[in-house]
Amino acid sequence: KPLIIEESETNMTEIKAVGVVGSGQMGSGIAQLAAVHGLDVWLLDTDPAALSRATKSITSNIHRLISKGQLSQAAGNDALCHLRCSSNLEELRMADIVIEAIVESEDAKKTLFLELDMIAKDSAILASNTSSISITRLASATRRPRQVIGMHFMNPPPVMKVVEIIRGADTSDNTFYATKALAERFGKTVICSQDFPGFVVNRILMPMINEAFYALYTGVATREDIDTGMKLGMNHPMGPLQLADFIGLDVCLSIMKVLQTGLGDNKHAPCPLLVQYVDAGRLGRKRGIGVYDYR
Ligand code: CAA
Repeated sequence: KPLIIEESETNMTEIKAVGVVGSGQMGSGIAQLAAVHGLDVWLLDTDPAALSRATKSITSNIHRLISKGQLSQAAGNDALCHLRCSSNLEELRMADIVIEAIVESEDAKKTLFLELDMIAKDSAILASNTSSISITRLASATRRPRQVIGMHFMNPPPVMKVVEIIRGADTSDNTFYATKALAERFGKTVICSQDFPGFVVNRILMPMINEAFYALYTGVATREDIDTGMKLGMNHPMGPLQLADFIGLDVCLSIMKVLQTGLGDNKHAPCPLLVQYVDAGRLGRKRGIGVYDYR
């Protein structure tokens, strides 16, 4: 039975406790942001090894912020005290918002949302950090589609300045304003996107990366010249192939497939070279090899 919650902008959900599911680069970065901004954080992952890597990286990032004078020692200690890790989803019972940052698979995210819907308190917002999957479809797996929203951080979340917020077909104003306020509390600029494949950022970014793969595949130029041309020519921090390695070639491919299926045109067909690299396990920096070799 659907959950109906009375709401208005003036009666906005107050967010004090945040749950983050998935402790990879994105999830751990989001958990770090929430902890540093004074919120209670639960970071969840089924893989204890991933949780321990995340804890190490958050702790070292916080110490770096302290040593650079960007965070006081007291605030840093406070942030680390506010962060708890677990493999038990039940811990999220008291979260005001749960942000999922698990693998980019619609089935996996729907299954998680179904579980979260059972566990989270009635007023909780369920947000997805998906980079391209339909929020409306994820929301349909729950009894609370009004409280489901897309909150798309860029990688690395503590550094990148924008958060893309995506409203599903039924997302309420209360959910939108509470999520926007949270992103702003994290110091981010918010952009809003309709629920279309790839939203704004990946609708534009991924075809550029895919085109860079085509340029390499068809022998237009070397990987170094493609990257240098775009890095220095466009003033981008990284060239597109280097960026693809940074994001993960599997993630790039799955987003291209969402664009291709959702927009239904040949323009978004993934480049065969990108497909081949993923088939070969060359997933980018996280695997030590992608377009470039990092080993
Ligand atoms: N967590 C926290 N801080 C980090 C970090 C991390 N994972 N990685 C880097 N930083 C910080 C560093 O501490 C450093 O801070 P200070 O300047 O205050 O010392 C700063 O970021 C710069 O880092 P570095 O000096 O180590 O390296 P860099 O200058 O080469 O910058 C970079 C690294 C920020 C990643 C930069 O190369 C960059 O901006 N690259 C492009 C990233 C990008 O485009 N991201 C978006 C990807 S698309 C996306 O995410 C959407 C999607 O759905 C696929």
